[in-house]
Amino acid sequence: MNNTTTLLRHPHSPRSSTPGTTMLDRSVSSRRHAAESDAVADSPTPDPSSDDDESKTKRQHISLLASKYLSRISHMSPYLVICVFALFGVVSFIFHYSRNLVCISPYDPHSRIGPGLYRPDAAESDFGYLGVPWCRSKHGKTVEWTTKDLIKGLEEFVRIYETRPIKNNMYGMGFDHSFGLWFIARWLKPDLMIESGAFKGHSTWVLRQAMPDKPIISISPRHPAKYLQKGPAYVDENCTYFAGKDFVDFGSIDWGSVMKRHGITNLSRVLIFFDDHQNELKRLKQALKAGFQHLVFEDNYDTGTGDHYSLRQICDQSYIRGGGHSCFRDSDEARIRARRKKFWEKAVDVEELCGTGETWWGVKGEMRDNFNHSNKPISYAEHFQNSRYVESILEVYWELPPVAGPSLTHQTRYDPARAPSPIVEDGRYGLFQRLGLSRLETSVFNGYTQMVYLQISEQES
Ligand SMILES: C[S@@+](CC[C@H](N)C(=O)[O-])C[C@H]1O[C@@H](n2cnc3c(N)ncnc32)[C@H](O)[C@@H]1O
Repeated sequence: MNNTTTLLRHPHSPRSSTPGTTMLDRSVSSRRHAAESDAVADSPTPDPSSDDDESKTKRQHISLLASKYLSRISHMSPYLVICVFALFGVVSFIFHYSRNLVCISPYDPHSRIGPGLYRPDAAESDFGYLGVPWCRSKHGKTVEWTTKDLIKGLEEFVRIYETRPIKNNMYGMGFDHSFGLWFIARWLKPDLMIESGAFKGHSTWVLRQAMPDKPIISISPRHPAKYLQKGPAYVDENCTYFAGKDFVDFGSIDWGSVMKRHGITNLSRVLIFFDDHQNELKRLKQALKAGFQHLVFEDNYDTGTGDHYSLRQICDQSYIRGGGHSCFRDSDEARIRARRKKFWEKAVDVEELCGTGETWWGVKGEMRDNFNHSNKPISYAEHFQNSRYVESILEVYWELPPVAGPSLTHQTRYDPARAPSPIVEDGRYGLFQRLGLSRLETSVFNGYTQMVYLQISEQES
């Protein structure tokens, strides 16, 4: 498995964070940068050998006009002159700002790349008004794969996915996360793969496609074979099942002896996949204690959503770009959320986001666990401490982007303003088709919940 660092810088890279700035500051400054770079890109490069330097000509022209005008009005009273200049100032101010106030709907996905506020390149660093939280890693390392690698992987995976034994995997992974898990496993090439939460066995099948000869350990209260009685399911031959009567929770397994039995001496060569809807902080601590370093969480729910406390929720902090929320009913965030909710099923408005006492973190200030069969109110201080803890053990945090933009996949569930830019961006239908993605039923694109890959420290520091 590859333990190396840093090649591709994630769009949420710490480098681009500006601690201490408010959300408004951030959007303003990013727009300012965009405007500045626009100006640079648009200005013609002056040819030093030419007398026809356009910018110079323009400057001369304007100064000539101004001096002519001044000489014409010099006979007027100074008060009139001041009034004329004041009027001119007000008119030019209104003209300038009216261009920047072009009304662009924040809930229309296409508006993100529309004129003025969001340009395709700006979308990389500014995911809309609400922003996207991310987890800071200790040393700012990130994954070594690039978008090109992901695109190449997609081309290969579509054909594999079409052969899946469970065609309708409702309540399990859809296409995006199946691809993400397959890609990560294939890239890291672990000696052993462990999954917690198997359901009918679709994710076991995905892991098997990535690594045909490596052993798998699958943990799930109900054995996938049980589902075979009712329809398609997948049971793997080279898999040790802690399932059915042999079920033991991940946190209670004696991993030392299980690793010994599997001949694993280097835990950095093991990949763990969690799709068991348990508190991810709890799972992180258990994995760290056992010495595992490479983890994937399938359901990395956004703040205010989901049935368990997620990495996304933990890292949603106001000192991180895209993080922190306002519960004010009369605020830009409240208005934007209300509008986005009309378009995106998983978007939450301020009423849903906030509980009593303006508790917005986790889900209304609750740390959910075990499919929300248990939940515990936590204070903001505790939530903040959790994020500092995660940061202290995090080597890499990488959120899988959606495979393709919503106009291509026709999904309306996740809100694109709260997700990284898709691998195949909206408008790239040619690529979408070439990769074979247009052959898939649109329903397979519905389950995206920000799957995340983490690399954590070897030991608690
Ligand atoms: C969403 S499903 C998993 C879907 C599966 N990974 C797939 O892609 O098709 C969640 C699974 O977690 C199982 N589960 C519940 N509690 C669990 C626990 N403590 N440990 C492991 N699995 C658990 C459930 O029985 C269910 O099969």
